Amino acid sequence: MDFTVKPLTTHMGAEVTGIDLNAGVGDNLAQSLRQVWLENGGFMVIRDQKNLTAESHIAFGATMGPLFGAPDQAPLQDTVSRYIHPDHPEIYRVSNKLDESGEPLGRKGAGTYWHSDVSFRERPAAASILHAVEIPAVGGNTLFADMTKAFNELSKAMKDLLRPLKAVHDFEVAAYQQYTNRVLVKDDLTTGANRAVHPVVRKHEETGEESLFINPGFTSHLEGFDADESGWLLDNLYAHATRPEFIYRHSWSEHDVVVWDNRSLMHYAIMDYGDEPRYMERTTCIGGVPV
Ligand SMILES: [Fe+2]
Repeated sequence: MDFTVKPLTTHMGAEVTGIDLNAGVGDNLAQSLRQVWLENGGFMVIRDQKNLTAESHIAFGATMGPLFGAPDQAPLQDTVSRYIHPDHPEIYRVSNKLDESGEPLGRKGAGTYWHSDVSFRERPAAASILHAVEIPAVGGNTLFADMTKAFNELSKAMKDLLRPLKAVHDFEVAAYQQYTNRVLVKDDLTTGANRAVHPVVRKHEETGEESLFINPGFTSHLEGFDADESGWLLDNLYAHATRPEFIYRHSWSEHDVVVWDNRSLMHYAIMDYGDEPRYMERTTCIGGVPV
């Protein structure tokens, strides 16, 4: 494959140039890209996808795994259904723009907290693929925290302590902090579909590497501990995991397509650009049950 790969940090992330996803992604290219992605800690940015259509975005996304919203696949939670692309149920729109009737085109200020996409499902997201269609002149960066490095740099005693633990992930944690009552679909909180128990340390299905799998956005508590104990354990783990040494800060260029692995990274979208228009489209792969 005739594309170029450059590392973005010393520990994770790759920049890929020389690819046109719109020209179609065959098996060989899909496999090469997946390898680059996995070898670089589950983060790559494919630059300059100016002509990327929704169809080509979905086709590329589908090479990374089954997509939320695809025919015969689970949709995302109902609360965000209003932000799904009207013609493409696989595409979740993230934007502060309004349509002609004044309705939001996408979710404004999505993900302005540390989280791993959809971690509250029994089968959380694996890859998320985000296409930056329109971006502010400055601001609107996204932070990514390397949860594999964060785990690896703990002491053996702490690793051993954490490995048997389980955490409850619940959409309700974000629901009341991040969504207004007008938007929130109550069924999302009552059916149990958006609540799951996962290991605190998960083993990546493809690389075999262990990562911390907890996040302030959706993790409600650690199983078996008092609320206070759970809180101070989690808070200290979050402080550790978000040390600058484990972070990559992505400054978007127009028509970047960023692919990140929710199994081994947390992310945080910085909302510092006011009403400057920003419009992005995301497809999201359904991963396996974390073990
Ligand atoms: Fe997110």
